[in-house]
This record gives sequence, C-alpha cells and structure tokens, in this order.
Amino acid sequence: MSRAGRKWGGVAALAAFAVLALAGCDNDQQSVLDPVSHPARDIESLWWWMLAGAVVIFLGAVGLLGLSWLRRDRGGLPVFGDNEGVARGFVVVFGILIPIVALVALFTIGNIFVLPVTQAPAAGSTSLTVEVVGHQWWWEVRYPGTKAVTANEIHIPVSTRVLLVGRSADVIHSFWAPNLNRKIDVMPGRENRILLYSDRVGRFRGQCAEFCGLQHAHMGLYVYVEPKDEFDAWLRRMSTPAAAPSGSQAQRGRDLFASMPCAGCHTIRGTSAAGKLGPDLTHVASRETLAALTIPNDRGYLAAWIDDPQHFKPGNRMPALHFEGSELEDLVAYLEGLE
Ligand code: CUA
Repeated sequence: MSRAGRKWGGVAALAAFAVLALAGCDNDQQSVLDPVSHPARDIESLWWWMLAGAVVIFLGAVGLLGLSWLRRDRGGLPVFGDNEGVARGFVVVFGILIPIVALVALFTIGNIFVLPVTQAPAAGSTSLTVEVVGHQWWWEVRYPGTKAVTANEIHIPVSTRVLLVGRSADVIHSFWAPNLNRKIDVMPGRENRILLYSDRVGRFRGQCAEFCGLQHAHMGLYVYVEPKDEFDAWLRRMSTPAAAPSGSQAQRGRDLFASMPCAGCHTIRGTSAAGKLGPDLTHVASRETLAALTIPNDRGYLAAWIDDPQHFKPGNRMPALHFEGSELEDLVAYLEGLE
C-alpha cells in the first residue's frame, strides 16, 4: 500500500472507531454520563468538575514543561529573571498550595454534597424493595412479599423510589447500574443497600464492577424502568407458577427437565424442579438474554447454550449434558413456552 493509502486507511480506521464509540452512547447503554436520577446526576456533575480541573492542571503542567524546553539555553525565569524568592514562591504555590486547595475542595464536595445524596434510603421510606443476590456469574432478583424470582433483569416502576438490598451467595461482587446510582459491593454475610430510582422509562445496562472470577466481565444485567401499570402487570405475571406445557413435544421436554440433572440446579415454580444453584427458570422465555447478557434469548441460542454452556461462558457452573434423538429440541420447546 502507498504511503497516502496507509494514511487514509488509518483515518478510516479512526473514523470507524469513533462511530463505534459514539454508538455506545445509545439511550439504553450503560453510562455515567446519561443519568436518570438525582444521585446519578450529582455523580455526573462531580465527574465533569473533576475532568475540568484535571484538564486545567494538566494543560498548565504541559505548558510549563514546553516553556522550559523552549528556554532550555537561557537561565532564570521569564519576566521575573533570576530571582530566588519568586522561584521558591512558584514551588510553594504550584507544588503545595494548589494541590491542597484542589484536594480539600474535592473532599468537601464529594463527602458533604454528593455522597449523602447517593446514600441508601431510610428504612421504610420506600414502597418497593428488590433483593439482588450476586452469584458467580449472574444476578438473582427477588421481590419480597411476592413469589416473583427472576435473573439478570430488574424491573422497577418509573419515578418510584426503590430500595435495592444486595447480597452475595459466594464471593464479593459489585452491583453497578451507573445511569441510576453509584456502585455497591455485594458481599457474603452482609447486606448493602442503595436507592434505585429513575425519572425516565427505558432499559439501562448494569455490570458487576468487582473482579469475581473467570466470567466477571459476563456478569451484566438490565434495569427496565416501566410505567407503573406495566410494572404491576409484569410483577403479577412473574409471581405466577410456570405455564403448563402446550403440545406433546413440550410435555416431553418438561418430563426430561424433571428427570435430568436440570431440576437439581434450577427451579421452575409449579413443577417438581426446585434446584437452587442456577437461575429460576419459571418465566425464562420472558427474558431478553441468557447467561447474564452474554447471548440473546432465542430458540437457536437457547439450544446452543444447553448443548454446550462452556462454549459461550467458560468456567460457569452449568455442565454440558448428553442428549439423544430429539431430547434437546423437546427441552427447548418446553423452555420456550415458559413466558
Ligand atoms: Cu461478579 Cu464481578
């Protein structure tokens, strides 16, 4: 390739990167810079002020460095000349005074203004509680007072203060839905709480933010913020037992599920399957993704996931089982009916 060709190739690659990076700014994407609540907005403005301060200090330092390089053959300071007192003054102002002022200001604003806004809501001050349990590597979601149990997808009503109680079933994870609030650690033997609130309807991505093992990066979640009546209908549906299989293929699938090791790890409410290790599958077909946002939840991916779970998410707890004849299709037909 010619030199000009390489240059334009580089420009095209940069442009493509910029387009991809900007595509990440979609409404439903995980972003600190697209806040939907008071705490998230305070975190965002703190971030912008920190960036602005850092830019000023960085440009100042680089400017002084450039100036000293330009004047490398001359002695003394510009304007002030060879003055020991002024030189010492610069060191005191830029090396001691400005860092102290900047750090004290950051500490004060962060701790006195922003941190209290992001604190957990007072006990009894919210009308809805969501329990989130971190597992390697997925999120269990419960709605106390109802039978609803789901995984990796949290639904909340819009403009409603929701208390999120975070726990862990194994190691330390961190729950983080940055459009809504700051992160909280979820730890074994401890409960941490945070406010979940959004004044905008939408789907917001969240992520485990504490390294928790091989598939830490594939421990994503969605927060769905819905109009109140839509949320109520969803919660009612999630609280019901699983739908009965329709058709003989799905019936064979249900019997297989009960007789194979599946039922030892997964619960399907309304059936004999009551395992506690994996996600509750009572309404698995209503979920948008499988394996904590790793793959879409459709017939093809569902079959591929059951056939070889280690292919998509190596190290996860789900073993590959051996299927014969139409067994896999039967199982998928049953699970696909669990709306
Ligand atoms: Cu769970 Cu990282």
